[in-house]
Amino acid sequence: MDRLRIKGGNKLKGKIYISGAKNAALPLICASLLTDEAVTLTNMPVLSDIKSMNLLLEQLGTKIESHDEIIDGNPCKSYTYHTPKFESLVAPYDYVRKMRASYYVFGPLLARERYVELSLPGGCAIGARPMDIHLSSLEQMGAKIEIKNGYVIAKVDGRLKGAHLVFKAASVGATCNVLMAAALADGKTVIENAAREPEIGDLVNMLNAMGAKISGIGSSVLEIEGVERLHGTIHKVIADRIEAGSYAVAAAITRGCIELVNAQPETLQTPIKILRQAGVNVEEREHSIVVDAEGCELIGQDLMTDYYPGFPTDLQAQFLTLMLTARGASMVTETIWENRFMHVPELLRMGANINVHGHASAIVRGVDKLYGAPVMATDLRASFALVLAGLVAEGETIVNRIYHLDRGYEKLEEKLRSVGADIVRESDKEEE
Ligand code: UD1
Repeated sequence: MDRLRIKGGNKLKGKIYISGAKNAALPLICASLLTDEAVTLTNMPVLSDIKSMNLLLEQLGTKIESHDEIIDGNPCKSYTYHTPKFESLVAPYDYVRKMRASYYVFGPLLARERYVELSLPGGCAIGARPMDIHLSSLEQMGAKIEIKNGYVIAKVDGRLKGAHLVFKAASVGATCNVLMAAALADGKTVIENAAREPEIGDLVNMLNAMGAKISGIGSSVLEIEGVERLHGTIHKVIADRIEAGSYAVAAAITRGCIELVNAQPETLQTPIKILRQAGVNVEEREHSIVVDAEGCELIGQDLMTDYYPGFPTDLQAQFLTLMLTARGASMVTETIWENRFMHVPELLRMGANINVHGHASAIVRGVDKLYGAPVMATDLRASFALVLAGLVAEGETIVNRIYHLDRGYEKLEEKLRSVGADIVRESDKEEE
């Protein structure tokens, strides 16, 4: 198992290229299943979650070709997905267990092949993560659904039918799954209380380019006029706003200055507001964001996670860590996931002053210093928070279990080293 060894104290300065968004790419890959023509995705991040999704699609019968490309001087990948026919309509346990987003094959398979078997994902470290909205919506669209041996089995006679759906929560996953299914349904589907995350907008743009008729982009009411078939397209994946926000904190916490090249400032308005209120200079450019905290004394800020455009839960751990280096107290409240303060006990081992109240909120008090320590990460974003703490801690921090980071941060050590961090990856194999 790999680990990161970080020597804290370096001010980070320079430019970091922000990769394509993992959480946009995953549903886009699955949307390619809606057509028998080829779909090419460019600006794709190279991450273990993308590899897992590619393996799942290959198992279903998709032919995948990868190509190297250069965007803004940065080497990237593009992939072409082509599924003229399916070899399997089953998403097995071993795939779903590794990556919950495997459930994005559900809507497309049901819509195009009228049958799908998906291993139920179950909970994960940050919460219960139910699928009830996905399933009840597809039932309202005519699917017959049963749960057997840990699998959800869905079928439909003829095409799915358009329906008027009101989501009880603005779920990103359910919005994507239902959008993809409704694109090929018979008649009009309306989703009320749809998620408004930029990754949904990216999916709608690609589906429309494939011939879908979806309106309401960026709003909480989406209207989908079903069509009989969709065709291939070429689509560039949007920039990863969570990766950009994470490196913005790396600049702020080390009191450095980083230009986030390719970042889209319009997708990060709430985190940018919090950074500015804390005393960080943030310049929004057309295709980049400059985060400059040189010489700044930061002031603690309260923040509460919420559905987009509110503060993203996927940046909560990173901003909580930043507040440890700010003057005064900050209250951090988590409203999306029920168990998302697992980075706190590890940060306490590094000298943090944080009090967690129940599962929902934490009081963070600024400290004079954090101290390096061996720490262990429990989920993707919490792992990045520990890296951030390591970047400012006195002495050496070792972050274990970094397979979490490899799921969502492309070339993490390379990017951090390029702006001056002292960070290396070690693996047990090399030492043996
Ligand atoms: C996606 C992101 C994840 C992010 C989350 C919230 C991907 C691959 N993952 O996860 O990084 O933290 O959005 O921004 O894009 N819910 C239900 N029933 C359902 C589905 C969801 O009650 O059927 C609830 C969940 O318990 C949670 C809330 O809705 O409280 C949001 O979940 P959702 O938006 O679905 O998260 P994911 O799509 O799984």
